Amino acid sequence: MSSSQPFQQSSPTATKRSRFTYRQLAHLAQSSTTCPLRVIAHIDLDAFYAQCEMVRLGVPEDTPLAVQQWQSLIAVNYPARKFGISRMITAKEARKLCPEAILQHVATWKEGDEKWAYHKDAFANMATHKVSLDPYRLESRKILACMKGCLPADLQRVEKAGIDEVFLDLSAQVHSILLQRYPELSSPHDDPAEFLPLPPTTVLDWQADALVDLDASETEDDDPDWDDVAILIGSEIVRDVRAAVRKELKYTCSGGIAHNKMLSKLGSAHRKPNQQTVIRNRAIQQFLSDFKFTKIRNLGGKLGSQIVATFDTETVSGLLEVPADRLKQKLGDDTGSWVYQTIRGVDQSEVNSRTQIKSMLSAKSFQPSINSREQASKWLRIFVSDIYARLVEEGVLENKRRPKTINLYCRHGGQTKSRQTPIPQGKVIDETILFDLASKILGQIILEGNVWPCANLSLSVTGFEDGVTGNMGIGGFLLKGDDAKAARENENRDVGEVEDRPGKRQKTERGERGIQGFFSPQGGGNEVDGLGETHEGGGDWPFDEGDNTTATHQITSPQRELKNASIESYFCKQCNESFLSNDSFQSHNDWHFAKDLQDEDRRLSHTPQPRPKPGPGNTKNKAGKNGRSGGSSAGKAEKGQSKLNFG
Ligand code: CTP
Ligand code: CA
Ligand code: CA
Repeated sequence: MSSSQPFQQSSPTATKRSRFTYRQLAHLAQSSTTCPLRVIAHIDLDAFYAQCEMVRLGVPEDTPLAVQQWQSLIAVNYPARKFGISRMITAKEARKLCPEAILQHVATWKEGDEKWAYHKDAFANMATHKVSLDPYRLESRKILACMKGCLPADLQRVEKAGIDEVFLDLSAQVHSILLQRYPELSSPHDDPAEFLPLPPTTVLDWQADALVDLDASETEDDDPDWDDVAILIGSEIVRDVRAAVRKELKYTCSGGIAHNKMLSKLGSAHRKPNQQTVIRNRAIQQFLSDFKFTKIRNLGGKLGSQIVATFDTETVSGLLEVPADRLKQKLGDDTGSWVYQTIRGVDQSEVNSRTQIKSMLSAKSFQPSINSREQASKWLRIFVSDIYARLVEEGVLENKRRPKTINLYCRHGGQTKSRQTPIPQGKVIDETILFDLASKILGQIILEGNVWPCANLSLSVTGFEDGVTGNMGIGGFLLKGDDAKAARENENRDVGEVEDRPGKRQKTERGERGIQGFFSPQGGGNEVDGLGETHEGGGDWPFDEGDNTTATHQITSPQRELKNASIESYFCKQCNESFLSNDSFQSHNDWHFAKDLQDEDRRLSHTPQPRPKPGPGNTKNKAGKNGRSGGSSAGKAEKGQSKLNFG
């Protein structure tokens, strides 16, 4: 489309105008979360860990490959999926289904080693090795840098939402492109409440995008309005970003382009691999009604199960029939209205480019369990090295960010005991300090008795804070060598952050996360961190940062349904999937454990509702024992919501 095309009925006598006003168009430039023209994208890498291994090993694109962790598979590329290989089966079964498939074991830390490596015999040495997802974190960072490099520096807003996914708020960029393409949109007008002229009637060219069908009440013959044009421009941007990632780094990814985060995330998963899906505002109801609501962001996990049990339905269409009052009555006012809005496609959470790491976790499940302090100490050394490397990357040396608390969890007999202790302030954190603290709390847990045999040991650092406040000063620049040393010696100085990559900005705004921040190591720990996501927002996971005592917290393991155990088949009710080996079932459970924690953190940070009351037997203390909910009101419906035309 070009600006030379005439605007439809733009004369003063015209009666037909756009549904959108000049004011709303102006809000687009500000990425306002209530702007009805808002454009959000979600991009997710296809079979991510599998692609990482393909790129690393130089494997041709059509070769079946899966990533193995012990005997389980944790990622399966699309060519291998054609043979029926999935994450649900064991490596042995995969080998039977496709003898020529490459089954690449993840990198591991070997007991006593100082660095992870790819070990040929790792799969047979679960007792002495620990999984490292570092190689994938490194690739994740490169991909993020590439994506950011495609977007205008002053208009981009990128949120890393997991090890292989991002949200992009494209609103400001789309606004600037709209004005370039349609200069008439910036023509003078008397009143910001005036409606815009309609866009030219040219058929929109969606190229190869998968377009979700329109709602029943809409037809393709209806003239497009500016929200359609905006989303089309968003889709062009996403196509360019995906093409750059493909060209520069050889990765394929899938995208969803829609009006908000929730819809864009559902969109990116809609058609995979290597495709993008557009959900126009006029298609939202149609698109959502087919879904199980548990697939919706923040509606999986415990809250989702609670809703299924309460309202006896799994589908969005079933839940749409429940009146708002009843949702509120059963779920509480805040959660109820949040759910009511969400299943109607309303989500005003913002794309948060300042999402920062809240915690880091390094963990190991033991099979067989371990039985002595000596064994536990060896693993603590590895956890500390793992976490320390990630802390350095997060900027702990420059005092940009530092955790306040260190926590240790021991799983014994289906229950997890934990203790925590503050990390002394005023000293640069190093491996020795961390190891000494971890050993101290291990000693305390042991003193309380009943930890052996121990099935899982997890170490985390939480309560991350910006190390410094105050003026920008020298802090606006990357500190290296002597400067870094000076900063270390003066802990209360402001140390801003800067990108150190050639050709990138040399300065960032104070408070904004520089590129390093985005590339920071992930919150999840190994073994349970298939997610590798930031524990973001709300309370610090898993305890209130204010709680510096060393009280013992009991955490129960998530209970997954075990069906037909006699024939060695394990069933996960939540995923509706069976697992043939205890091994893969355990690793799946670990993944759920991490995901549940993360979902809950997310929900608390993005929605205003209080935590639902834990059910019987579920005393897991995740967001802090005071049940503090996140401060953000991003998920709250605001005035003007009714103006949004969701069909
Ligand atoms: N992951 C995992 N265990 C799971 C789910 C995910 O270890 N149960 C890891 C995977 O190995 C994966 C990464 O997290 O590569 C990203 O997960 P996800 O995006 O859900 O799956 P992909 O493997 O990337 O596949 P898809 O193409 O469906 O996105
Ligand atoms: Ca993915
Ligand atoms: Ca993902």
